[in-house]
Amino acid sequence: MSPLSNLAVRDVETLVHPYINLASFRETGPLVIERAQGVYVYDSNGKAYIEGMAGLWCTALGYGNDELVETAAEQMRKLSFAHLFTGKSHDPAIELAEKLKEIAPVPISKVFFCNSGSEANDTQIKLVWYLNNARGKPQKKKIISRVKAYHGVTVAAASLTGLPGNHRDFDLPLPGFLHTSCPHHYRFAQDGESEEEFASRLADELEALIVKEGPETVVAFIAEPVMGAGGVIVPPKSYFQKIMAVCARHDLFVISDEVICGFGRLGTMFGCEKLGFRPQAISVAKALSSAYLPIAAVMIPELMYEALLVESKKLGAFGHGFTYGGHPVSAAVAVKAIELYQRDRIIEKAARRAPLFQARRSASIRWSAKRAASGSLAAWNWSPTRRASVRSMRSTASARPLSASPRTKA
Ligand SMILES: Cc1ncc(COP(=O)(O)O)c(C=O)c1O
Repeated sequence: MSPLSNLAVRDVETLVHPYINLASFRETGPLVIERAQGVYVYDSNGKAYIEGMAGLWCTALGYGNDELVETAAEQMRKLSFAHLFTGKSHDPAIELAEKLKEIAPVPISKVFFCNSGSEANDTQIKLVWYLNNARGKPQKKKIISRVKAYHGVTVAAASLTGLPGNHRDFDLPLPGFLHTSCPHHYRFAQDGESEEEFASRLADELEALIVKEGPETVVAFIAEPVMGAGGVIVPPKSYFQKIMAVCARHDLFVISDEVICGFGRLGTMFGCEKLGFRPQAISVAKALSSAYLPIAAVMIPELMYEALLVESKKLGAFGHGFTYGGHPVSAAVAVKAIELYQRDRIIEKAARRAPLFQARRSASIRWSAKRAASGSLAAWNWSPTRRASVRSMRSTASARPLSASPRTKA
Protein backbone atom coordinates (compact mmCIF):
# COMPACT_ATOMS: atom_id res chain seq x y z
CA MET A 1 0.00 0.00 0.00
CA SER A 2 1.36 3.43 -0.92
CA PRO A 3 2.19 5.69 2.01
CA LEU A 4 -0.29 8.45 2.71
CA SER A 5 0.43 11.92 1.37
CA ASN A 6 1.07 14.76 3.77
CA LEU A 7 -2.49 16.03 3.28
CA ALA A 8 -3.91 12.55 3.92
CA VAL A 9 -1.86 12.17 7.10
CA ARG A 10 -3.06 15.56 8.33
CA ASP A 11 -6.64 14.46 7.62
CA VAL A 12 -6.31 11.14 9.42
CA GLU A 13 -4.75 12.83 12.43
CA THR A 14 -7.37 15.54 12.72
CA LEU A 15 -10.80 14.57 11.33
CA VAL A 16 -13.56 12.17 12.26
CA HIS A 17 -15.38 11.29 9.02
CA PRO A 18 -19.01 10.14 8.81
CA TYR A 19 -19.94 6.76 7.34
CA ILE A 20 -16.54 5.08 7.13
CA ASN A 21 -14.76 2.35 9.03
CA LEU A 22 -12.53 4.69 11.01
CA ALA A 23 -9.96 1.95 11.70
CA SER A 24 -9.34 0.90 8.07
CA PHE A 25 -9.60 4.55 7.01
CA ARG A 26 -6.36 5.18 8.90
CA GLU A 27 -4.64 2.93 6.32
CA THR A 28 -6.41 4.11 3.17
CA GLY A 29 -6.73 7.84 3.90
CA PRO A 30 -9.17 10.21 2.20
CA LEU A 31 -9.88 11.16 -1.39
CA VAL A 32 -9.23 14.89 -1.16
CA ILE A 33 -11.39 16.96 -3.50
CA GLU A 34 -9.92 20.31 -4.37
CA ARG A 35 -12.20 22.02 -6.85
CA ALA A 36 -15.24 21.46 -9.05
CA GLN A 37 -16.95 22.77 -12.16
CA GLY A 38 -20.18 21.68 -13.83
CA VAL A 39 -20.58 17.96 -13.18
CA TYR A 40 -16.86 17.43 -12.50
CA VAL A 41 -14.93 17.35 -9.25
CA TYR A 42 -11.12 17.30 -9.24
CA ASP A 43 -8.97 15.66 -6.60
CA SER A 44 -5.74 17.03 -5.13
CA ASN A 45 -3.78 15.33 -7.94
CA GLY A 46 -5.87 17.08 -10.58
CA LYS A 47 -7.78 13.92 -11.56
CA ALA A 48 -11.35 14.61 -12.78
CA TYR A 49 -14.41 12.60 -11.74
CA ILE A 50 -18.02 12.90 -12.86
CA GLU A 51 -19.89 13.59 -9.62
CA GLY A 52 -22.58 11.07 -10.46
CA MET A 53 -24.32 11.28 -7.11
CA ALA A 54 -24.50 15.08 -7.24
CA GLY A 55 -22.57 15.24 -3.95
CA LEU A 56 -25.07 13.61 -1.62
CA TRP A 57 -27.99 14.13 -4.06
CA CYS A 58 -27.75 17.84 -3.46
CA THR A 59 -25.74 19.77 -6.10
CA ALA A 60 -28.65 19.85 -8.53
CA LEU A 61 -27.46 22.91 -10.47
CA GLY A 62 -23.88 21.71 -10.79
CA TYR A 63 -20.69 23.32 -9.53
CA GLY A 64 -19.33 26.79 -10.20
CA ASN A 65 -22.64 28.47 -11.00
CA ASP A 66 -21.72 32.15 -11.16
CA GLU A 67 -25.23 33.39 -10.51
CA LEU A 68 -25.42 31.54 -7.20
CA VAL A 69 -21.90 32.65 -6.27
CA GLU A 70 -22.70 36.30 -7.07
CA THR A 71 -25.96 36.14 -5.11
CA ALA A 72 -24.09 34.87 -2.06
CA ALA A 73 -21.35 37.51 -2.36
CA GLU A 74 -23.86 40.32 -2.82
CA GLN A 75 -25.93 39.23 0.17
CA MET A 76 -22.82 38.81 2.29
CA ARG A 77 -21.79 42.38 1.53
CA LYS A 78 -25.27 43.71 2.26
CA LEU A 79 -26.20 41.71 5.37
CA SER A 80 -23.92 38.83 6.30
CA PHE A 81 -26.04 37.69 9.23
CA ALA A 82 -29.37 38.37 10.86
CA HIS A 83 -31.43 35.96 12.92
CA LEU A 84 -35.15 35.37 13.07
CA PHE A 85 -35.43 35.12 16.87
CA THR A 86 -37.69 37.33 19.02
CA GLY A 87 -39.42 39.02 16.10
CA LYS A 88 -36.41 40.02 14.00
CA SER A 89 -36.59 39.34 10.27
CA HIS A 90 -34.97 39.98 6.93
CA ASP A 91 -35.84 40.12 3.26
CA PRO A 92 -34.25 36.86 2.02
CA ALA A 93 -36.07 34.71 4.60
CA ILE A 94 -39.41 36.37 3.84
CA GLU A 95 -38.89 35.99 0.08
CA LEU A 96 -37.84 32.35 0.38
CA ALA A 97 -40.83 31.48 2.58
CA GLU A 98 -43.14 33.15 0.05
CA LYS A 99 -41.51 31.25 -2.78
CA LEU A 100 -41.79 27.89 -0.99
CA LYS A 101 -45.47 28.53 -0.28
CA GLU A 102 -46.01 29.43 -3.93
CA ILE A 103 -44.42 26.25 -5.33
CA ALA A 104 -45.70 23.87 -2.62
CA PRO A 105 -47.75 20.94 -3.96
CA VAL A 106 -50.21 21.17 -1.04
CA PRO A 107 -51.59 24.14 0.95
CA ILE A 108 -48.78 25.45 3.14
CA SER A 109 -49.43 28.13 5.70
CA LYS A 110 -45.97 28.87 7.10
CA VAL A 111 -42.31 27.93 6.74
CA PHE A 112 -39.78 27.32 9.54
CA PHE A 113 -36.10 27.44 8.58
CA CYS A 114 -33.26 25.27 9.81
CA ASN A 115 -29.87 24.13 8.50
CA SER A 116 -30.04 20.45 7.62
CA GLY A 117 -32.41 17.64 6.77
CA SER A 118 -31.93 16.19 10.25
CA GLU A 119 -32.89 19.46 11.89
CA ALA A 120 -35.92 19.72 9.62
CA ASN A 121 -37.15 16.25 10.59
CA ASP A 122 -36.35 16.80 14.27
CA THR A 123 -38.46 19.94 14.02
CA GLN A 124 -41.30 17.99 12.38
CA ILE A 125 -41.29 15.60 15.35
CA LYS A 126 -41.34 18.42 17.90
CA LEU A 127 -44.13 20.16 16.00
CA VAL A 128 -46.45 17.13 15.92
CA TRP A 129 -45.87 16.62 19.66
CA TYR A 130 -46.60 20.32 20.23
CA LEU A 131 -49.68 20.02 18.00
CA ASN A 132 -51.17 17.22 20.01
CA ASN A 133 -50.47 18.93 23.30
CA ALA A 134 -52.33 21.94 21.90
CA ARG A 135 -55.18 19.67 20.77
CA GLY A 136 -55.44 18.09 24.22
CA LYS A 137 -54.23 14.69 23.00
CA PRO A 138 -50.98 14.33 24.97
CA GLN A 139 -51.03 10.53 24.71
CA LYS A 140 -51.09 10.58 20.85
CA LYS A 141 -47.34 10.98 20.24
CA LYS A 142 -45.83 7.89 18.56
CA ILE A 143 -44.41 8.36 15.08
CA ILE A 144 -44.23 5.74 12.36
CA SER A 145 -41.42 5.60 9.86
CA ARG A 146 -40.25 2.68 7.72
CA VAL A 147 -37.54 0.04 7.76
CA LYS A 148 -34.65 1.33 5.58
CA ALA A 149 -35.89 4.94 5.78
CA TYR A 150 -33.29 7.68 6.12
CA HIS A 151 -34.39 10.83 7.89
CA GLY A 152 -31.11 12.01 9.39
CA VAL A 153 -28.83 11.45 12.37
CA THR A 154 -29.75 13.81 15.20
CA VAL A 155 -31.21 11.89 18.13
CA ALA A 156 -34.86 12.08 17.10
CA ALA A 157 -34.29 12.07 13.33
CA ALA A 158 -32.02 9.03 13.72
CA SER A 159 -34.86 7.35 15.59
CA LEU A 160 -37.01 7.88 12.49
CA THR A 161 -34.25 6.45 10.33
CA GLY A 162 -34.81 2.74 9.84
CA LEU A 163 -31.24 1.58 9.33
CA PRO A 164 -29.46 -0.52 12.01
CA GLY A 165 -26.15 1.26 11.39
CA ASN A 166 -27.67 4.49 12.68
CA HIS A 167 -29.05 2.85 15.83
CA ARG A 168 -26.53 0.25 16.96
CA ASP A 169 -24.55 1.36 20.03
CA PHE A 170 -26.10 4.83 19.86
CA ASP A 171 -28.92 3.49 22.10
CA LEU A 172 -31.49 4.33 19.43
CA PRO A 173 -34.28 4.43 18.41
CA LEU A 174 -35.88 6.34 21.25
CA PRO A 175 -39.13 4.93 22.65
CA GLY A 176 -42.21 5.96 20.64
CA PHE A 177 -40.58 5.59 17.22
CA LEU A 178 -41.99 2.69 15.21
CA HIS A 179 -40.92 1.26 11.87
CA THR A 180 -43.33 -0.33 9.44
CA SER A 181 -42.37 -2.53 6.47
CA CYS A 182 -40.09 -1.35 3.70
CA PRO A 183 -41.79 -0.94 0.29
CA HIS A 184 -39.10 -2.83 -1.61
CA HIS A 185 -40.98 -5.13 -3.94
CA TYR A 186 -37.91 -6.90 -5.32
CA ARG A 187 -36.53 -7.73 -1.86
CA PHE A 188 -39.63 -8.24 0.25
CA ALA A 189 -42.52 -9.35 -1.99
CA GLN A 190 -43.65 -12.93 -1.54
CA ASP A 191 -43.41 -15.36 -4.46
CA GLY A 192 -45.84 -14.32 -7.19
CA GLU A 193 -47.02 -11.24 -5.29
CA SER A 194 -47.74 -8.38 -7.71
CA GLU A 195 -46.74 -4.80 -6.87
CA GLU A 196 -50.37 -3.94 -6.11
CA GLU A 197 -50.80 -6.98 -3.86
CA PHE A 198 -47.55 -6.15 -2.09
CA ALA A 199 -48.73 -2.55 -1.58
CA SER A 200 -52.04 -3.82 -0.13
CA ARG A 201 -50.17 -6.11 2.26
CA LEU A 202 -47.93 -3.25 3.43
CA ALA A 203 -50.97 -1.04 4.01
CA ASP A 204 -52.55 -3.86 6.03
CA GLU A 205 -49.32 -4.23 8.04
CA LEU A 206 -49.27 -0.49 8.74
CA GLU A 207 -52.87 -0.63 9.90
CA ALA A 208 -52.16 -3.67 12.10
CA LEU A 209 -49.24 -1.81 13.72
CA ILE A 210 -51.41 1.25 14.43
CA VAL A 211 -54.18 -0.91 15.88
CA LYS A 212 -51.72 -2.91 18.00
CA GLU A 213 -50.15 0.27 19.41
CA GLY A 214 -53.55 1.95 19.78
CA PRO A 215 -54.55 4.64 17.25
CA GLU A 216 -55.01 7.04 20.16
CA THR A 217 -51.21 6.82 20.74
CA VAL A 218 -49.95 7.36 17.17
CA VAL A 219 -49.64 10.89 15.78
CA ALA A 220 -47.74 10.82 12.48
CA PHE A 221 -46.34 8.91 9.54
CA ILE A 222 -43.20 10.14 7.73
CA ALA A 223 -41.87 8.93 4.39
CA GLU A 224 -39.47 9.78 1.61
CA PRO A 225 -41.33 9.57 -1.74
CA VAL A 226 -38.47 7.43 -3.08
CA MET A 227 -36.20 6.13 -0.32
CA GLY A 228 -32.68 7.37 -0.99
CA ALA A 229 -29.95 6.34 1.42
CA GLY A 230 -31.74 3.08 2.25
CA GLY A 231 -31.01 1.95 -1.32
CA VAL A 232 -33.06 3.99 -3.84
CA ILE A 233 -36.29 2.15 -3.19
CA VAL A 234 -39.11 3.09 -5.55
CA PRO A 235 -42.40 2.08 -3.89
CA PRO A 236 -44.71 -0.40 -5.64
CA LYS A 237 -47.68 0.79 -7.69
CA SER A 238 -50.58 2.14 -5.58
CA TYR A 239 -48.43 2.11 -2.40
CA PHE A 240 -48.91 5.70 -1.30
CA GLN A 241 -52.61 5.76 -2.15
CA LYS A 242 -53.16 2.74 0.11
CA ILE A 243 -50.89 4.00 2.89
CA MET A 244 -52.54 7.44 2.81
CA ALA A 245 -55.97 5.84 3.24
CA VAL A 246 -54.74 4.06 6.39
CA CYS A 247 -53.23 7.29 7.76
CA ALA A 248 -56.49 9.15 7.11
CA ARG A 249 -58.55 6.45 8.87
CA HIS A 250 -56.44 6.83 12.03
CA ASP A 251 -55.98 10.60 11.96
CA LEU A 252 -52.22 10.44 11.31
CA PHE A 253 -50.41 13.59 10.27
CA VAL A 254 -48.44 12.78 7.09
CA ILE A 255 -44.98 14.26 6.53
CA SER A 256 -43.16 13.99 3.22
CA ASP A 257 -39.40 14.02 3.66
CA GLU A 258 -38.37 15.73 0.41
CA VAL A 259 -34.75 16.25 1.45
CA ILE A 260 -33.56 14.23 -1.57
CA CYS A 261 -36.65 14.12 -3.79
CA GLY A 262 -37.44 17.84 -3.69
CA PHE A 263 -36.46 20.25 -6.48
CA GLY A 264 -36.57 17.98 -9.48
CA ARG A 265 -34.73 14.84 -8.47
CA LEU A 266 -37.69 12.73 -9.65
CA GLY A 267 -38.63 15.05 -12.51
CA THR A 268 -41.25 16.99 -10.52
CA MET A 269 -40.69 19.92 -8.15
CA PHE A 270 -41.62 17.70 -5.18
CA GLY A 271 -41.36 13.92 -5.04
CA CYS A 272 -44.88 13.48 -3.61
CA GLU A 273 -46.23 14.93 -6.88
CA LYS A 274 -44.52 12.14 -8.81
CA LEU A 275 -45.71 9.45 -6.39
CA GLY A 276 -49.24 10.88 -6.25
CA PHE A 277 -49.76 11.56 -2.56
CA ARG A 278 -50.65 14.67 -0.57
CA PRO A 279 -48.77 15.14 2.72
CA GLN A 280 -49.74 17.74 5.29
CA ALA A 281 -46.17 18.86 6.03
CA ILE A 282 -42.92 18.78 4.03
CA SER A 283 -39.19 18.78 4.90
CA VAL A 284 -36.76 20.20 2.34
CA ALA A 285 -32.97 20.74 2.34
CA LYS A 286 -30.08 19.78 0.00
CA ALA A 287 -31.11 21.01 -3.50
CA LEU A 288 -33.06 23.88 -1.91
CA SER A 289 -29.82 25.84 -2.31
CA SER A 290 -28.24 23.35 -4.73
CA ALA A 291 -25.95 22.76 -1.71
CA TYR A 292 -24.14 26.05 -2.20
CA LEU A 293 -24.91 26.79 1.43
CA PRO A 294 -26.62 24.81 4.21
CA ILE A 295 -30.31 25.55 4.54
CA ALA A 296 -33.42 23.46 5.21
CA ALA A 297 -37.09 24.17 5.77
CA VAL A 298 -40.17 22.71 7.39
CA MET A 299 -43.36 23.58 5.53
CA ILE A 300 -46.50 23.37 7.66
CA PRO A 301 -50.26 23.64 7.09
CA GLU A 302 -52.64 26.15 8.69
CA LEU A 303 -53.86 23.59 11.24
CA MET A 304 -50.32 23.23 12.58
CA TYR A 305 -49.73 26.98 12.62
CA GLU A 306 -52.92 27.51 14.59
CA ALA A 307 -51.70 24.98 17.16
CA LEU A 308 -48.38 26.84 17.42
CA LEU A 309 -50.30 30.06 18.02
CA VAL A 310 -52.35 28.48 20.79
CA GLU A 311 -49.39 26.84 22.52
CA SER A 312 -47.05 29.83 22.27
CA LYS A 313 -49.79 32.09 23.63
CA LYS A 314 -50.28 29.71 26.54
CA LEU A 315 -46.55 29.25 27.23
CA GLY A 316 -45.38 32.78 26.42
CA ALA A 317 -43.14 31.88 23.45
CA PHE A 318 -42.55 29.28 20.76
CA GLY A 319 -39.45 27.72 22.30
CA HIS A 320 -37.67 26.37 19.24
CA GLY A 321 -35.20 27.85 16.78
CA PHE A 322 -31.67 27.61 15.38
CA THR A 323 -29.17 30.49 15.37
CA TYR A 324 -28.55 30.04 11.66
CA GLY A 325 -32.10 29.07 10.70
CA GLY A 326 -33.01 31.13 7.62
CA HIS A 327 -29.50 32.62 7.43
CA PRO A 328 -29.79 35.56 5.00
CA VAL A 329 -26.98 34.41 2.72
CA SER A 330 -28.28 30.82 2.51
CA ALA A 331 -31.83 32.09 2.02
CA ALA A 332 -30.80 34.48 -0.76
CA VAL A 333 -28.98 31.65 -2.53
CA ALA A 334 -32.02 29.37 -2.15
CA VAL A 335 -34.30 32.05 -3.64
CA LYS A 336 -31.90 32.28 -6.58
CA ALA A 337 -31.69 28.49 -6.93
CA ILE A 338 -35.49 28.22 -7.15
CA GLU A 339 -35.48 31.05 -9.69
CA LEU A 340 -32.97 29.08 -11.77
CA TYR A 341 -34.98 25.82 -11.51
CA GLN A 342 -37.95 27.75 -12.90
CA ARG A 343 -36.25 30.09 -15.38
CA ASP A 344 -34.11 27.37 -16.95
CA ARG A 345 -36.88 24.73 -16.86
CA ILE A 346 -34.60 22.38 -14.93
CA ILE A 347 -37.46 20.24 -13.64
CA GLU A 348 -38.91 19.69 -17.12
CA LYS A 349 -35.43 18.93 -18.47
CA ALA A 350 -34.80 16.43 -15.67
CA ALA A 351 -38.12 14.71 -16.46
CA ARG A 352 -37.34 14.65 -20.19
CA ARG A 353 -33.86 13.24 -19.68
CA ALA A 354 -34.82 10.64 -17.08
CA PRO A 355 -35.81 7.91 -19.59
CA LEU A 356 -32.52 8.33 -21.47
CA PHE A 357 -30.53 8.34 -18.21
CA GLN A 358 -32.31 5.20 -17.03
CA ALA A 359 -31.95 3.45 -20.41
CA ARG A 360 -28.21 4.13 -20.50
CA ARG A 361 -27.80 3.00 -16.93
CA SER A 362 -29.64 -0.21 -17.75
CA ALA A 363 -27.44 -0.83 -20.75
CA SER A 364 -24.31 -0.28 -18.67
CA ILE A 365 -25.00 -3.24 -16.34
CA ARG A 366 -26.61 -5.97 -18.43
CA TRP A 367 -26.57 -8.61 -15.73
CA SER A 368 -28.32 -6.52 -13.12
CA ALA A 369 -31.18 -8.36 -11.47
CA LYS A 370 -33.55 -5.44 -11.31
CA ARG A 371 -33.30 -1.76 -11.83
CA ALA A 372 -34.93 0.71 -9.48
CA ALA A 373 -35.24 4.19 -10.87
CA SER A 374 -37.32 7.32 -10.72
CA GLY A 375 -36.35 10.57 -12.42
CA SER A 376 -32.61 10.89 -11.99
CA LEU A 377 -32.40 8.54 -9.00
CA ALA A 378 -31.34 5.01 -9.85
CA ALA A 379 -29.88 1.91 -8.29
CA TRP A 380 -29.50 -1.76 -9.05
CA ASN A 381 -30.62 -4.68 -6.94
CA TRP A 382 -28.82 -7.92 -7.20
CA SER A 383 -29.59 -11.28 -5.68
CA PRO A 384 -27.41 -12.43 -2.72
CA THR A 385 -25.55 -14.90 -4.95
CA ARG A 386 -24.46 -12.06 -7.19
CA ARG A 387 -23.05 -10.00 -4.34
CA ALA A 388 -19.52 -11.35 -4.61
CA SER A 389 -19.18 -10.43 -8.27
CA VAL A 390 -20.70 -7.05 -7.67
CA ARG A 391 -18.47 -6.24 -4.72
CA SER A 392 -15.47 -6.03 -6.98
CA MET A 393 -17.24 -3.37 -9.02
CA ARG A 394 -18.29 -1.24 -6.10
CA SER A 395 -15.13 0.80 -6.16
CA THR A 396 -16.39 2.31 -9.39
CA ALA A 397 -19.28 4.72 -9.41
CA SER A 398 -21.28 2.48 -11.74
CA ALA A 399 -22.37 -0.06 -9.14
CA ARG A 400 -23.46 2.53 -6.62
CA PRO A 401 -26.82 4.24 -6.27
CA LEU A 402 -26.37 7.04 -8.75
CA SER A 403 -28.01 10.22 -9.77
CA ALA A 404 -27.16 12.80 -12.39
CA SER A 405 -27.31 16.55 -12.12
CA PRO A 406 -30.14 17.71 -14.36
CA ARG A 407 -28.20 20.76 -15.49
CA THR A 408 -24.52 21.30 -15.76
CA LYS A 409 -22.23 23.93 -17.15
CA ALA A 410 -19.46 21.57 -18.17
C1 LIG B 1 -34.40 11.83 2.95
C2 LIG B 1 -33.39 12.45 3.87
N1 LIG B 1 -33.82 13.06 4.97
C3 LIG B 1 -32.97 13.64 5.83
C4 LIG B 1 -31.62 13.62 5.59
C5 LIG B 1 -30.67 14.24 6.58
O1 LIG B 1 -30.16 15.40 6.05
P1 LIG B 1 -28.82 16.04 6.66
O2 LIG B 1 -27.70 15.09 6.34
O3 LIG B 1 -28.73 17.35 5.96
O4 LIG B 1 -29.03 16.18 8.12
C6 LIG B 1 -31.13 13.00 4.45
C7 LIG B 1 -29.69 12.98 4.15
O5 LIG B 1 -29.22 12.37 3.24
C8 LIG B 1 -32.04 12.40 3.56
O6 LIG B 1 -31.61 11.75 2.48
